[in-house]
Amino acid sequence: MKLSDTKATLSFSNGKPSMDLPVYSGSVGPDVIDIRKLYGQTGLFTYDPGFMSTAACQSSITYIDGDKGELLYRGYPIEQLAVNCDFMDICYLILNGDLPDGEQKKDFDNQVTRHTMVNEQMHFFLRGFRRDAHPMAVLTGLVGGLSAFYHDSTDITNPMHRHISAIRLIAKMPTLVAMAYKYSIGQPYVYPQNNLSYTGNFLRMMFANPCEEYVVNPVVEKALDRIFILHADHEQNASTSTVRLCGSSGTNPFAAIAAGVACLWGPAHGGANEACLNMLEEIQANGGMAKVGEFMEQVKDKNSGVRLMGFGHRVYKNYDPRAKLMQQTCKEVLASLGLESDPLFKLAMELERIALEDPYFVERKLYPNVDFYSGIVQRAIGIPTALFTAIFSLARTVGWIAQWNEMLSDPEYKIGRPRQIYSGESSRQYKKK
Ligand code: ACO
Repeated sequence: MKLSDTKATLSFSNGKPSMDLPVYSGSVGPDVIDIRKLYGQTGLFTYDPGFMSTAACQSSITYIDGDKGELLYRGYPIEQLAVNCDFMDICYLILNGDLPDGEQKKDFDNQVTRHTMVNEQMHFFLRGFRRDAHPMAVLTGLVGGLSAFYHDSTDITNPMHRHISAIRLIAKMPTLVAMAYKYSIGQPYVYPQNNLSYTGNFLRMMFANPCEEYVVNPVVEKALDRIFILHADHEQNASTSTVRLCGSSGTNPFAAIAAGVACLWGPAHGGANEACLNMLEEIQANGGMAKVGEFMEQVKDKNSGVRLMGFGHRVYKNYDPRAKLMQQTCKEVLASLGLESDPLFKLAMELERIALEDPYFVERKLYPNVDFYSGIVQRAIGIPTALFTAIFSLARTVGWIAQWNEMLSDPEYKIGRPRQIYSGESSRQYKKK
């Protein structure tokens, strides 16, 4: 970031001396006012719940222009990456800053492929869970548990340790997600197979069984790979900020990523894809298309507590570019699987059509987000609803680990420690009650 010639001046109406604050510019996007010395010089904090106006770090990984509906990974528009790259290209790009050439890609693929197995003890760890446990509960435990197995790569001051942890996490997440699924349905775990692509291998670990050969469907493989690409990173969202805050204490990467998984689970964040599909299924069960209007009235009624899941975003105030790409994938997958007349897809299109014309949504700039269509795609390829957020975690792992690594490499890195405005009792004396 670059120091700008402009300065911000903070003045007070009570006669306190005013204070000049430096302003910094990034490469694109809004400038920031540097308030680091504010408390030292004025004894005041700033108040910004939900980080509505606060940049908590500098980052060169992902850029979003919410008004334009633009998403860039390392400067490349998501629309170009989604059609020209596979998920391994994206992982390399996000971790290293640029796309790989042929040799770099081969080497990276090889590194990830050689780390997909997990320690056999993980099987016993899984057995401690109920079979009907939510996959996100299981995944939070399993990812945190990895730190008990990989002591050789938890020196966070060593860049090589950080690199090998990144590779391990990216490589092992599909194995863990598939194991959590197989455990939930009582089937044997399927070991990774090195001659398959990252995504093809995940599909096989999910859907193969020892009784018959599993052949990866290339349309399904491409669709899931696109889901992974679209979810790979999204700058300082809640789970990424959680990973950074958790990691800022110096904890190991597996513990920090487990915190990200836990945060992602919430329905306002990654849990929205599961909540969105449940919503569509509920509308369908209660009368389908005929009830869409009634449902939309409920959504607009603040007292109903009902939200249109998969709609709205803290940053995008124009169409989420990932939703456009997801809608296109959705059409392709349904057509190739002969499910063009899927009633949930029709329902989703109708909800979107109504919302885009309704003043409630238009005035609040509420558009479909990536989760609006990703659930329909996942359901069409046989992934159970409860696993959607676990798949999101798998894809977001590269973003989390790259952001964690970037934080640790930043000379300005400090333990994260927000301030508060205290509104409880002031000091009082103990009296026995
Ligand atoms: N349905 C109905 N009304 C909505 C919705 C929605 N999905 N989203 C926002 N609104 C309304 C709010 O009620 C509020 O109205 P008001 O100004 O009259 O009070 C206004 O739009 C602004 O909404 P906020 O909740 O204040 O916006 P915020 O930026 O805090 O929230 C969020 C963003 C959490 C994503 C919200 O839009 C939401 O809950 N969406 C549904 C859940 C969802 O799809 N989450 C996935 C996000 S993408 C991701 O994590 C991958």
